[in-house]
Amino acid sequence: MKFQLVSLFSLLLSSATAAPSSPPEPKTFDIMALRSASPIHFSQVSAAKSGLFLDLPAQNATCKGDESKGSATFYVENEELVLYSSEGVKQKVFVDRSGMGQGIVGYITGDASLPRYGELKGWKVDADQNLWFKDTGLIACPNSIDGSWKIWLDLGLQQPGGNTGCLGFTARTLEIAKPVSCQYTQV
Ligand SMILES: *[C@@H]1O[C@H](CO)[C@@H](O)[C@H](O)[C@H]1NC(C)=O
Repeated sequence: MKFQLVSLFSLLLSSATAAPSSPPEPKTFDIMALRSASPIHFSQVSAAKSGLFLDLPAQNATCKGDESKGSATFYVENEELVLYSSEGVKQKVFVDRSGMGQGIVGYITGDASLPRYGELKGWKVDADQNLWFKDTGLIACPNSIDGSWKIWLDLGLQQPGGNTGCLGFTARTLEIAKPVSCQYTQV
């Protein structure tokens, strides 16, 4: 009986030490646009100059490792969309759903202040691996920097920010097992 108690105790002790106390790392992903029969179908999301883009030739991010990687890597933590970096300073993606913002999407670095109506919380990845902000999807408008398409939140406006030829798309997340840590450029 005594022996059994002792072995039970040591069993409990070993399982307690084996269990990690820190939460698991959030899943990191890149984002691909799905909009069949369009120029942005299968385009990857890039981050540069405080904005998100499709078909941007070069992000010019400062990375540990593959500097030439053209797409941005993200994770969702507490409903916030964060650009992956192993550094302490976080870059977080915000949206502005106000009349002035018209669904503008951008990111801030560290404790920089948000635009007046900027919101960080509301991002989620659904069971089909698609990214949403509070059940709202994304839209991209052509003729942005270096021939890219600039990404906005799709608030149902035909011409967000006065841009024409915009296309709504499904933001499919693609899990990245070994993310590259980057700091993306700010305007
Ligand atoms: C990246 O750098 C190249 C070369 O300097 C420049 O032409 C391009 O506009 C830059 N792209 C961005 C998004 O900053």
